[in-house]
Amino acid sequence: MTKTEYRFTFGTTESRVYIGEKLPSSGDELCGTAKALVVCDSNTEYLARRLLKGGEIPCCILPPGEPEKTWESVERILGAAYAAGLGRDGLIVGVGGGVITDIAGFAASIYMRGVRLRLISTTLLGMVDAAVGGKTGIDLLGIKNLTGAFYPAEAVYMPLESLAALPFREWKSGLAEVIKTAILAGDREMFSRIRSFRDTCLTEISRAGKNAGDMAGLRSGGLEYLISRAVEIKGRIVEEDPRETGERRALLNLGHTFGHALEASAGLGRLTHGEAVAWGIVRACELGHVLGITALEQALEIRELIQSYGYSTEAPHPAMGNTDEYFRALEGDKKKKAGKLVFIVPSQGNAEKILIDREDLRFRSILQSIINGEYQF
Ligand code: GLY
Repeated sequence: MTKTEYRFTFGTTESRVYIGEKLPSSGDELCGTAKALVVCDSNTEYLARRLLKGGEIPCCILPPGEPEKTWESVERILGAAYAAGLGRDGLIVGVGGGVITDIAGFAASIYMRGVRLRLISTTLLGMVDAAVGGKTGIDLLGIKNLTGAFYPAEAVYMPLESLAALPFREWKSGLAEVIKTAILAGDREMFSRIRSFRDTCLTEISRAGKNAGDMAGLRSGGLEYLISRAVEIKGRIVEEDPRETGERRALLNLGHTFGHALEASAGLGRLTHGEAVAWGIVRACELGHVLGITALEQALEIRELIQSYGYSTEAPHPAMGNTDEYFRALEGDKKKKAGKLVFIVPSQGNAEKILIDREDLRFRSILQSIINGEYQF
């Protein structure tokens, strides 16, 4: 059933990714003889039901959306796992986008101190980012992913058929992470394939979701290449730095320091993650340029690509509301190290990490001018 398969080693866990046409054809193929619990939401229940061995695999169905990334959801999963009789050799299977795979993964990491985890990723954002590499978690105190664990799944299935039902904004959310990956890897081939994918993509995804099943245009336009390449690049980076203790994995946060603060100040769930990341990448270009790290040519090329996909790139962002709130969210960023804010900026064809002292007055005024839209390149 699979088209492309990757095998990664994340710390002590071997994690396989299957990018293919269809779901595993049966619950047996997915779960073997393990006692399992499927976790899904009401959007992915229809996919999960196809795997449920005629109802033999118990299922925990959560409401959809970012507001569900809570302790309460984790408790529901833990309760359902216990009620289903999962022991330490049990298996949790998350079926959904990034929200579901993050919560299900976190629940798997703590149920009986850790049980087996498999994921079926059903959104583009999940496939190209969230489901690969073992970050799991929930939001807390209004901060995205404040609590969680590194807990890679032993297998991640990416059935392309599930993308047919995806709404337009969810497609674009995932595409922002694809663009991010091409930039940080300095992958010119991928960059140019993203550029040439644009026309097909924007025409086809505005139809997708209404016309479930019609993926032919997207597939012939290069969708599988882009997903596979994003998975491969991310997987290899995470293999080098699975717990983000070194320099490598942090690069995957390009656009995320600015973007997460935008998501938080707009109110979690109002913007899609990708909309915020696309906006954040443009801010990272401005920061890199003002600091003399990002060449003008690279910054312009990135901004042009992002704008060509129709993301909102102006500063301040219309959803931001009050810029004071934005700065509070930025200061509270959980990626900070030794009190310094961490930014990833494009540099010499790929990206690099910079640490900035929050008390540095010159830097504060640079940030103010970027967020207020006074900085232009
Ligand atoms: N989404 C960034 C990472 O997985 O490290």
